[in-house]
Amino acid sequence: MDMKDIDSKKLKELYLEFFKQKNHVVIPNASLIPKEDPTVLFTTAGMHPIVRYLLGEPHPLGKRLTNVQKCLRTDDIDSVGDDSHLTFFEMLGNWSLGDYWKEEAIKWSWEFLTDEKWLGIDKNKIYISVFAGDEDAPRDEESASIWRSLGVPSERIFYLSKKDNWWGPAGATGPCGPDTEMFYDTGKEPHGEDCRPGDSCGKYVEIWNDVFMQYNKTADGKYELLKQKNVDTGMGVERTVAILQNKKSVYEIETFKPIVEKIKELAKIKSPDENQERSIRIITDHIRASTFVLSEEIVPSNVDRGYVLRRLIRRSIRHGKLIGIEKEFLGDLAEIVINIYKDSYPELEKKKEFILTELKKEEIKFRNTLEKGLKKFEELARQVKIIDGKSAFLLFQSFGFPIEMTKELAKELNIAVDEKGFEEEFKKHQQISRIGAEKKFKGGLSDASEQTTKLHTATHLLNEAIRRVFNRKDIVQKGSNITPERLRFDFNFERKLTEDEIKAIENLVNEQIKKGLPVRREIMTLEEAKRLGAQGVFEHKYEEKVSVYIIGDFSIEICGGPHVKNTKEVGRFRIIKEEGVAAGIRRIKAIVE
Ligand code: ALA
Repeated sequence: MDMKDIDSKKLKELYLEFFKQKNHVVIPNASLIPKEDPTVLFTTAGMHPIVRYLLGEPHPLGKRLTNVQKCLRTDDIDSVGDDSHLTFFEMLGNWSLGDYWKEEAIKWSWEFLTDEKWLGIDKNKIYISVFAGDEDAPRDEESASIWRSLGVPSERIFYLSKKDNWWGPAGATGPCGPDTEMFYDTGKEPHGEDCRPGDSCGKYVEIWNDVFMQYNKTADGKYELLKQKNVDTGMGVERTVAILQNKKSVYEIETFKPIVEKIKELAKIKSPDENQERSIRIITDHIRASTFVLSEEIVPSNVDRGYVLRRLIRRSIRHGKLIGIEKEFLGDLAEIVINIYKDSYPELEKKKEFILTELKKEEIKFRNTLEKGLKKFEELARQVKIIDGKSAFLLFQSFGFPIEMTKELAKELNIAVDEKGFEEEFKKHQQISRIGAEKKFKGGLSDASEQTTKLHTATHLLNEAIRRVFNRKDIVQKGSNITPERLRFDFNFERKLTEDEIKAIENLVNEQIKKGLPVRREIMTLEEAKRLGAQGVFEHKYEEKVSVYIIGDFSIEICGGPHVKNTKEVGRFRIIKEEGVAAGIRRIKAIVE
């Protein structure tokens, strides 16, 4: 087969077909928001949606699984712009849940990569790494000898440490183990003398990883044996296609090219120089990631997933400016992303309007302050060698510069940023706990509690605001659900709300927040609560004492809490969606920023 015939669609088909022939069952592509694994903000690999089966629960479809999984990783965000690192990518995977082990996994990887019937990659260009061993797990001679038995010469097998050859857990705890990785030699000139697989010289591109998940990392940092030995593998679609099509970088393959071309057209650039090329690549990567994140109904904000999204969008806008794009452009690019992927990911087309609307809002908002913020930054940069915490916070607060953007700007001018100082300022202003802020700045784990507390109080305000705007006492809560990103509130109402009504509700809530109303908790009998007109579920026994939250003179509701102490802490409230969920029931989704 001519290797160049293989595009992303074909590669995915071939992979699934190969593993079906080895008795694997194809499982669906899961959401980018991990429902099964609270230790990560996003699905960073195909294993997250199946963590509990790796831990030993039997999977309904058997012990051999395979799929394509959309993934998002921010660890590599600073490398984006080179030939192969991406934030959003598709990953092919096959799993053994306590079934086959190293021998089969490695032999099948080799067969799929090199057999003419499958990918037919030149065997001489494949390099391997295996785990070198340490106090937690032994040197992986077993994998190395399987590779040698397949004809891989010893000099192409590298023994590397945990930093390189150990997968997971992405969060602090979870299933993990040593891995063996497959690299393709691109033939590029090595940058350094010791250029080897797994370093950043760019000569060897990792295309596949077979993880031997035998351990569970516990909260006290120990590695205990799992109930079963699992295999977890991951192959990057974009990278592999670039290799198969003999392209220098992922940006030249069919799923990237239309985006790159559009950016060049908007920037009126025919042959980009090195800096322009990097900006084009960053925008291409980030708009793919942003479009997919938005399709999960995450909106830009200053916390958790919304913050990652905001960073991606704002960085794209800044790089757009760098290459001369002065008008709104992200919507045009998102439409291209949606077209490219809508067959494999129907949610993109379904959420198209939401994606485009939210992108536009964020772009307008940031464009309003970007110019002035850049001026301010330049002024600061002329005066100092270190941007202090207060200034970095000013850039964040008044001009909407995520700290990562200030760092990037500073790096370009070879000056430093006092990040610790920024965090201090941030904490002072946001009244968030030390732990929460630290987690957030590490950018990995979600700290749900503070955000959900704010949203919880916002839900009470919303509940009351709806009744007041319509001046109707019969409208009551029919359901409520809160995640760290948003609140969801269902209530009885017979028709779609108008834009004006939505605005009126939003404004009324924001007025209460601005007033800084105290939030008090009182314990009283159900009878008393009723007399005071409290909202809430009246399923309690008559004589029972209940916990009631009273927000200034605005709202009173039976509720277990927790809530903020003063409505000021809630931040700005914004309704992002209003829809019908059943006859006579409307649903509002809202965020706090
Ligand atoms: N979970 C492994 C990875 O993502 C396969 O590399």
